[in-house]
Amino acid sequence: MKNNRRNFISKLSLGIATIPALSLASCAQETPVETAPKKALPVIITTWDAGIVANEAALANLKSGGTSLDAVEAGVMPAEADAANQYVGIGGKPDRDGYVTLDACIMDWEGNAGSVCFVQDILHPISVARRVMEKTPHVMLVGTGARQFAIEEGFETTDLLTEQSKKDWDEWRKTSEYKPVINTENHDTIGMLAIDEKGNISGACTTSGMAFKMHGRVGDSPIIGAGLFVDNEVGGAVATGLGEAVLRTLTSFLTVEFMRNGMSPKDACKAALERLAAKHKNFKDFQVGIIALDKNGNSGGYALQGGFTFALAEDGKNEMFEAESLI
Ligand code: GLY
Repeated sequence: MKNNRRNFISKLSLGIATIPALSLASCAQETPVETAPKKALPVIITTWDAGIVANEAALANLKSGGTSLDAVEAGVMPAEADAANQYVGIGGKPDRDGYVTLDACIMDWEGNAGSVCFVQDILHPISVARRVMEKTPHVMLVGTGARQFAIEEGFETTDLLTEQSKKDWDEWRKTSEYKPVINTENHDTIGMLAIDEKGNISGACTTSGMAFKMHGRVGDSPIIGAGLFVDNEVGGAVATGLGEAVLRTLTSFLTVEFMRNGMSPKDACKAALERLAAKHKNFKDFQVGIIALDKNGNSGGYALQGGFTFALAEDGKNEMFEAESLI
């Protein structure tokens, strides 16, 4: 059941000082500012409606002794394996040439990061991203190189194009002008942030990207600082929605920097979206949503347009909320 967002917002607002919008120049501050009282840990926050199942999987992982890194990986895996979810993993809508290509990244509390872009035939790109982080000297592997690495690491290949997604692609080809679809329905990238009982934050982000995109297109989701950013001294942020707009403004990094300067997670998401909107004359034509989590376990989200939901697991509850929006 979705909660009354005003209740949630007023709950989050307790103890948060009102802080005016900050210029980018002022974001160089190094010392994190306390924003709100500490929450009972762990806390997990995940984008969109699939976030409830994702949070449950992450909580189960933490209960069995996992770290926040283990939890975010385990948390997004059900969405990657859900053939009915047409925005992540198997069942994701293909590109305009009929290929399902996946992007994912992961980041831990020590600032380690791993990413795969434009990878095909691999069911769990988030796990490959983690292997890139832990087993290679690199942060990012792309395309055939990422696929080859995954196979070398023991991942099996899987046909990710489901009957339904092929049918949708066939339908799209009948009427399209062979252009990628850029609209507000192109969402449901899974982005998750978790803080464990030790106060360690990790994040994960995984997607099949824009439906019917050009072959080779990569969005924001696997780009550290765009789709995901974590700084354990401050907090983390994840973005969902039109990747091109997020890439141009490094929205997740910016959100964390706003938190560093004392903004609450919700206010930081809003300020980052105001920056994004200021740089995009057509911002009313697409959706971007952001969620954020600070080092004290306080969380929040904001969106360009209405309808952006996220799931929050804290204090023994796991509930959906609809974010406030600029438009
Ligand atoms: N935010 C997902 C994408 O644009 O690919």
